[in-house]
Amino acid sequence: MTTTSVSTSYDSATHPLEGIVPEIERAILDPIIADINRLKAERNAVVIAHNYMTPDIFYGVADLRGDSLQLARMAAETDADIIVMAGVHFMAETAKILSPEKTVLIPDQRAGCSLAESITAADIEALRAQHPGAPVCVYVNTSAEVKAAADITCTSSNAVDVVNSLGAEKVLFLPDQYLADWVASQTDVEIVTWAGACEVHERFTGDELAKYRTSNPGVQIIAHPECPSDVLAEADFVGSTSAMTKWVTDRQPEQVVMVTECSMADNVAEAAPDTEFLRPCNMCPHMKRITIHNIRTALEDLQHEVHVDPAVAAGARAALEAMLAVGRPRS
Ligand code: 13P
Ligand code: SF4
Repeated sequence: MTTTSVSTSYDSATHPLEGIVPEIERAILDPIIADINRLKAERNAVVIAHNYMTPDIFYGVADLRGDSLQLARMAAETDADIIVMAGVHFMAETAKILSPEKTVLIPDQRAGCSLAESITAADIEALRAQHPGAPVCVYVNTSAEVKAAADITCTSSNAVDVVNSLGAEKVLFLPDQYLADWVASQTDVEIVTWAGACEVHERFTGDELAKYRTSNPGVQIIAHPECPSDVLAEADFVGSTSAMTKWVTDRQPEQVVMVTECSMADNVAEAAPDTEFLRPCNMCPHMKRITIHNIRTALEDLQHEVHVDPAVAAGARAALEAMLAVGRPRS
């Protein structure tokens, strides 16, 4: 098994938040970061953080960071005993399904997702009856029960590859209608979808982006594929949160609009010091339930532990492992 490297040391001489948060805030954060790092070492725990976490979490206490696909891989590979998921509930559930022997904690159980709320396992069974024989691919932004009812999962970074890997003429691609539209534009496979949407990305409009272009000639616009198609039509690049980060750090554009959650620009700014990040951005209220304070409490009190019914977990694991095998060289 691969072991993911973990850095739990905290050295005040090379402060992890130097230049990232104001000094006055660092004075408040220092004892919290020190507590978290001590607790991680005592408990052999890691903090895995999604790209939408605030910079104090992302740079201050996260051991491993990334998009949904990277988080799933890290959860499967880390040799820590405890995983604290600094992300939303479906991400913690995915970690537990892939690492059933580990203790997985979510600092706030209310950290949900509008996409995960939009579809049930019964909905999937009804769709299967309407489209007999068509494989079902669900976004990882779903409950364990929904994953267990599917054939395979995908994330925004591998959705097109996963759909193409199925070798089917028609795929039920659920529940994000906008990601489905994006995938349909990149493949010859017929895509059947559902009316789910991300409450953060569906609020952007193509018109507002067109106005940014008019008032900022030369600006680069990059968007997450959960955005509606008129937004994606205005974008110079479409990709997952990590793909967006890579795009900006590789190119270091003069001005960029990252059409996604607000913390992305804050985190990427560190690696692109000369880039001006123009807003709009929208805040995900679920991601923002995770704070540096409740991460410390999670580690202190070992709360809130994520449990998945073993029968459901077995079905969901099969769908997740089918996804993780896509693109993996055959041995
Ligand atoms: P990524 O997999 O691109 O990180 O997306 C997760 C998510 O919830 C975006 O809204
Ligand atoms: Fe769900 Fe959207 Fe928040 Fe991501 S940004 S967790 S898809 S509501």
